[in-house]
Amino acid sequence: MLTVIGAGGMGRAIARRLGSGKTVLLADYNEQTLATLAESLSAEGHHVESHPVDVSSPESVRTLAKYAASLGSVTQVAHTAGLSPAQATAHAILAVDLLGVALVLHEFGEVIAPGGAGVVIASMAGHLFPPLTAEQDAALAHTPAHELLQLDFVSQLDNPGIAYAIAKQANHIRVRAASTQWGRRGARINSISPGIISTPMGQQELASPVGDGMRSMIAMSGTGRMGTPDDIAAATAFLLGPDATYITGTDLLVDGGVVAAAKAGSPTT
Ligand SMILES: NC(=O)c1ccc[n+]([C@@H]2O[C@H](COP(=O)([O-])OP(=O)(O)OC[C@H]3O[C@@H](n4cnc5c(N)ncnc54)[C@H](O)[C@@H]3O)[C@@H](O)[C@H]2O)c1
Repeated sequence: MLTVIGAGGMGRAIARRLGSGKTVLLADYNEQTLATLAESLSAEGHHVESHPVDVSSPESVRTLAKYAASLGSVTQVAHTAGLSPAQATAHAILAVDLLGVALVLHEFGEVIAPGGAGVVIASMAGHLFPPLTAEQDAALAHTPAHELLQLDFVSQLDNPGIAYAIAKQANHIRVRAASTQWGRRGARINSISPGIISTPMGQQELASPVGDGMRSMIAMSGTGRMGTPDDIAAATAFLLGPDATYITGTDLLVDGGVVAAAKAGSPTT
């Protein structure tokens, strides 16, 4: 069975791409979003189950993981739930994007089937932000999930953009660390770092004060275009599928070349 956490733009594309012939468990905290997607996938012939979840709540994520296991062998998990800087405060972003990912990694790491795989949707923001220190990196990798938001350098964050970038870099770090827990069960876990993707969230960011900066990043990138949710679903299918059985604990940047262009800079001659 396929579990898709987050029933927004990317969750929808992943469920449609990978769901045929499987039980698809959809989970989101917005019950309206969840019901709309469940209805539309069912109408297309998918076998859909849905369950509400707040990924920032340990009990809620544990209940979801147990429910997933009760439906059958949990072979594929795609974690797409998230909040962006245009949508929320730093506090809410850290609760969902940093703590939520740690909780999903832990609880689904307890129920994932042998041979199964998971993908966490991080962000290119985690690559664009300067690397954290070795000490911060180790704390983000190994601090128990319920204590993550109390780490000094995390609890002080009040800028939503910086909180988002640190949470997303933390996703890369946490996925690396979780790969051994998942590996003990014969399962794999990776992240994908999307660039600017045309989903409700991506459109909201483009309409916000940082929109012009994002348009310049797209213009200078190798592909010169926004990503589609299907671009992310294709990368997810690869990482969750049989061609990726030697790939775990890593991040795949799917950003149309934005980070490459930003890091390479312009020619000086
Ligand atoms: N769209 C982009 O340009 C972009 C770029 C880089 C990374 N991302 C990341 O990709 C992921 C998916 O984003 P999307 O573009 O599909 O966004 P989206 O807004 O379409 O979907 C996100 C979903 O997460 C759900 N959600 C939010 N808080 C939740 C919570 N506490 N518990 C459960 N569900 C919750 C929302 O209800 C929504 O349905 C996010 O993690 C986002 O940060 C998006």
